[in-house]
Amino acid sequence: MSERPVLLFDSGVGGLTVLREARVLMPGRRFVYVADDAAFPYGDWEEEALRARLVELFGRLIAEHDPLIAVIPCNTASTLALGDLRAAYPEMRFVGTVPAIKPAAERTRSGLVSVLATPGTVKRQYTRDLIRQWASKCHVRLVGSVHLAALAEAYMRTGFVDEEAVRAEILPCFMEEDGRRTDIVVLACTHYPFLVNRMRKTAPWPVDWLDPAEAIARRMLTLLPRVEGTENGAQRGGEPQGADRAIFTSGPPDQATLWLVRGFGLAA
Ligand code: DGL
Repeated sequence: MSERPVLLFDSGVGGLTVLREARVLMPGRRFVYVADDAAFPYGDWEEEALRARLVELFGRLIAEHDPLIAVIPCNTASTLALGDLRAAYPEMRFVGTVPAIKPAAERTRSGLVSVLATPGTVKRQYTRDLIRQWASKCHVRLVGSVHLAALAEAYMRTGFVDEEAVRAEILPCFMEEDGRRTDIVVLACTHYPFLVNRMRKTAPWPVDWLDPAEAIARRMLTLLPRVEGTENGAQRGGEPQGADRAIFTSGPPDQATLWLVRGFGLAA
């Protein structure tokens, strides 16, 4: 099996929700997880500055890690810079993620769907185009959350989150119109699935919370070279490599972060 790693990139620890799924599908693969925590949260960044940062940073990451593929489960980064990254590094295969608007439009019964994302993702033309292309028959409400990603970061390190703060962030997702109610909320930020149980608890009524992590991992699987001698080429052949790493752009992480990434099988 190739020693070249799969690189997973996010602004913080949110992409670990995707690493978790990828591990289940590809236990023999080597992963490098990069958190650009020096620049967290991405949701607040001005577009040009973030685009330039991502292109520059990926130049260094590709040179340093020589990954098989670069996965960007971060919606805020993908909807902004995927095209620029592909143009800047044409030899690198990038897997991005964009808000799961198409599956939500296919599944909704009421026709009322909300997309919960960072203010950055909500602003993007890319997101609006997805709605026009796939969900023109639905009423899609874009809800930009200022605090949820940071609440998820803190929750994952401390185990504590203020449920009233979660409730306040998700409340705008819930619409009632002519006797119909929102029935799907798209979790369009990698951080949010960490808080989904608190969202369920504080939601005004039950909805389907759409988490795309497994779909992203399955997409990765189809893009990676097949592993000979395995039943379905599903990268199940190797022993776990035990050398997976997490890298934080702000430098060595604190103790709580170290414990957190260890829980996901990463050394930092
Ligand atoms: N986790 C990121 C996303 O999927 C963004 C969080 C942030 O940095 O604001 O959009």
